[in-house]
Amino acid sequence: MRSQNPRRLLIGGNWKMNLLSRQARDYCQAFVSGWEGFSTEVVLFVSSPLLPAVAESLASGPIGLGGQDLHPESKGAFTGDVSGPQLADAGCSWVLCGHSERRRDHGESDRLVGRKAAAAVSNSLTPLICVGETEEERERQETFSVLKRQLETALESRPEPFALAYEPVWAIGTGRSATPEMAQQAHQHLRETLADLLGDEAAATKRILYGGSANPENAAALISQPDIDGFLVGGASLDPERFLAMIRCCG
Ligand code: PGA
Repeated sequence: MRSQNPRRLLIGGNWKMNLLSRQARDYCQAFVSGWEGFSTEVVLFVSSPLLPAVAESLASGPIGLGGQDLHPESKGAFTGDVSGPQLADAGCSWVLCGHSERRRDHGESDRLVGRKAAAAVSNSLTPLICVGETEEERERQETFSVLKRQLETALESRPEPFALAYEPVWAIGTGRSATPEMAQQAHQHLRETLADLLGDEAAATKRILYGGSANPENAAALISQPDIDGFLVGGASLDPERFLAMIRCCG
């Protein structure tokens, strides 16, 4: 367990497009009964149709609820989208913005991600803003410039509060996690960019999560890095025991 970090650790479980409501209820039951009074903040990011079942199962407990995306407008003719007010109404206090699967599959631009982050905070949702380079960008040594561009644009409206997730695209769902050293370098760069944009004090308080094949086996080494403040977990969050093992690792 890591005790040096001055920031409260944060772990998000990103279920992506998985589980049905019955399975989600069973998951929550197992998860809540395995909960050990952790000090880490934990949020489950679930698809919209599961929100009522999960909100009910987690009611008044310590585990937070988040949506996986939102539309920048608060209502209107946007078939298939979900709004910030709808997420808040369903019990969410968090929302993912700019996950790489949204950027890749739905053509989300940096600018749109910024508008979504602004919409989140104006609906009392904390955006967990996701950034990360592709494999080609890393090979071309563009990792730092891509992260800087993504972050600067996402923060143009100065959303507050927010948290960040560094998710190298090549590590997501591949079993090829970044090494602790690679992740620390990227996180440090993000924190330095935050300092340039928002000042040293704000940068020191912002949580930057690592995501991309994080699991109970590599969590301890990753969380021991000074600028890694938790995880955004896909695959390993689908099994409550494995997800709890990662939380245990953070304390
Ligand atoms: P993964 O997904 O843990 O399955 O790699 C992480 C994410 O996409 O948030």
